[in-house]
Amino acid sequence: MKFLSAALLLGLATPALSSCPYLASLSDDSPQRQLTLKTENTKSRTEQVELADLQAVKKDIVELLHSSDPKWPSDYDNYGPFFVRLAWHCTGSYRTSDGRGGCDGGRQRFDPERSWDDNTNLDKARSLLAPIKEKYGLSLSWGDLFVLAGTTAIEDMGGPVLGFCAGREDDDDGSASLPLGPTAEQEILAPCETNGECEEPLGSTTVGLIYVNPEGPMGQPDADRSAPQVRDTFERMAMNDTETVALIGGGHAFGKTHGACPSGPGLPPNEDEENPWSGECGSGVGVDAFTSGFEGPWTTQPTQWDNEYFQSLLNYKWDSWIGPGGHNQWQVRKEQNVTAPSGPAADGDGSQDIMMLTSDISLTRDPAYLKIVKEYASSLSSFENQFSHAWYKLTSRDMGPVTRCKGSMVPPAQEFQYPLPPTPPSSSLPDFSKVRASLANLLSSNAVSASSLTTLAWNCASTFRSTDYLGGCNGARILFSPGKDWSINSDSEDTLKALQSIKDTYGESLSWSDLIVLAGTVALEFSGADKMRFCGGRTDASDGLGWSYLTPKITGSLSDDSNILIDEISKLGLTAGEYVAILGAVHSLGDLPGDYVGQWTSDPFTVDNEYFKNILDLPFTLYENRQYKAEGEEIYALKTDMLIREIPELSSKAYDYAADEDYFKGELKNAWVKIMNADRFDIEGREEEY
Ligand code: HEM
Repeated sequence: MKFLSAALLLGLATPALSSCPYLASLSDDSPQRQLTLKTENTKSRTEQVELADLQAVKKDIVELLHSSDPKWPSDYDNYGPFFVRLAWHCTGSYRTSDGRGGCDGGRQRFDPERSWDDNTNLDKARSLLAPIKEKYGLSLSWGDLFVLAGTTAIEDMGGPVLGFCAGREDDDDGSASLPLGPTAEQEILAPCETNGECEEPLGSTTVGLIYVNPEGPMGQPDADRSAPQVRDTFERMAMNDTETVALIGGGHAFGKTHGACPSGPGLPPNEDEENPWSGECGSGVGVDAFTSGFEGPWTTQPTQWDNEYFQSLLNYKWDSWIGPGGHNQWQVRKEQNVTAPSGPAADGDGSQDIMMLTSDISLTRDPAYLKIVKEYASSLSSFENQFSHAWYKLTSRDMGPVTRCKGSMVPPAQEFQYPLPPTPPSSSLPDFSKVRASLANLLSSNAVSASSLTTLAWNCASTFRSTDYLGGCNGARILFSPGKDWSINSDSEDTLKALQSIKDTYGESLSWSDLIVLAGTVALEFSGADKMRFCGGRTDASDGLGWSYLTPKITGSLSDDSNILIDEISKLGLTAGEYVAILGAVHSLGDLPGDYVGQWTSDPFTVDNEYFKNILDLPFTLYENRQYKAEGEEIYALKTDMLIREIPELSSKAYDYAADEDYFKGELKNAWVKIMNADRFDIEGREEEY
């Protein structure tokens, strides 16, 4: 149980509760209480302050790019490549498996990320940027600054840039990155038997690296075996082949690797806070720098955008050798009539031969990658088009829908943002009090059960992930695959059919997503919950792609696990008390879903606190090897319910609710409204229209 308290401190963003007139117009008299899951107070106040003038920030960044600090001199008199690596390593930790990682939160400043091997010497990049952060203060988050520095550097070196999505909110600590490892949380949630061969949900093959070992699988210079690892790990970041090749070749159009001698970089920040990565080759800086232990530039013009990287991959024969830093890297084959092309030395004094990493060479060993390398080597415009889009996706993917992007440089919504039709003006929305009445009539006539409406709304809204802002009921993606096919939604088709008559009555003016949320809300009220606020204006998606990565991990089956449940609550952005209140309400009503049998309470038509008393007090035993039954009672439960009583942070809330029904209902009301509106980024700043 030791882990549980740590896991409850995972510290993820609480879903924003957008302002909405429907919310504001009703008084909120429910009791406020300190929340138990630490989802609050992990963000700094950047989100509450007007965004900095990004053009002014860019100007300051460009000035910094062309400077050189003797404490960490710039290579080729340009910090551009260094900042591109900073932005890539900050954003590239993103993984689709749980939406964690990415630069939103700016957690590369904290452990565990700041001490990752792959982030060696990036403390210097962050220090160089610190005066700019100080100048703009709360109007510029660290996360935005890191990404803007990399993006501005690409532009300044002649590369193509699609735009910039600002609005990252800094975390106050690195706790939201604990599941990325290396930590106890990661070992419990995503253990990796052989570091170097890690699988999903981890984003990389190696904990502490962004994606793959540059030297090759387990440090072997085997480019053939490196290619599948590159593909596998970039897919875990939602990148396809064309994006992957564009990103690697675009990144390595710039800069160099650093491995002046085999002595190493020194100790990471978690072992030497005062002087991390002091560098153990000569002066430790400039041409003596040791970062990765590889040495040399990829191209002859390392501060200028071009497609030379791809041409060199194709035009030369490459051999592996042990470089000056003691690692396997690749050099142009020494043949008669072929001289290895050279770029300038980092300090501008002399020249240095170009090089490749095993992971670079792997792009010529896989037939699909090779085709793309040839395409980019021959067509700069195709390369530029793919790179600019892939870079924007890389850097913005964890920001969620385009409606979360701020600033003057936001490009049109991209496919990876799963755009929804715009929120309609309030004048075109239905009179929701009439829709409420229609729903109440439907319930009174027994055409549909309160239980099925409540479950539908919860299953729809609880897809939300506070980690990358995917999911939620806005869009009504529960109508489409993959969501409608999930086992937890086996009853949803019938419930949607029951709602069809109301949908037909209001036509276009009423979206399915508003109808589903309002139906669940009215059903709870109809069954005895307090009156709840509703904010209309959701719109419907035309497919279910936005839910591709959101397959539920808690289903009620015996495989439900306490660690996974805690992780799921954390991802939802709910506190322990909020989750327990909602689950208690949904499980107060109706029968157990799908193929399970029985009901949770003696009165399955009423939302009250009997559910909590039952799961806390009754002697449940395994029933038919798939669910639970209370001995001597016709009361049943799922594994999830048993976890509520097992996990102390959850059971403690269950005790509170069992003891005080009014308190439960007040908490339920707040929690329900919070999760139903967690994805309503669409109306921020447009409150006047509603
Ligand atoms: C540098 C590996 C993908 C941008 C490096 C270095 C390594 C490396 C080992 C040398 C660090 C040092 O010693 O200073 C890899 C691997 C990748 C990958 C294994 C994936 C298979 C990318 C991507 C980008 C990128 C996707 C950006 C889009 C850069 C830049 C540098 C760099 C700009 C030069 C930094 C400097 O000059 O200070 N990379 N990288 N890399 N990487 Fe990558």
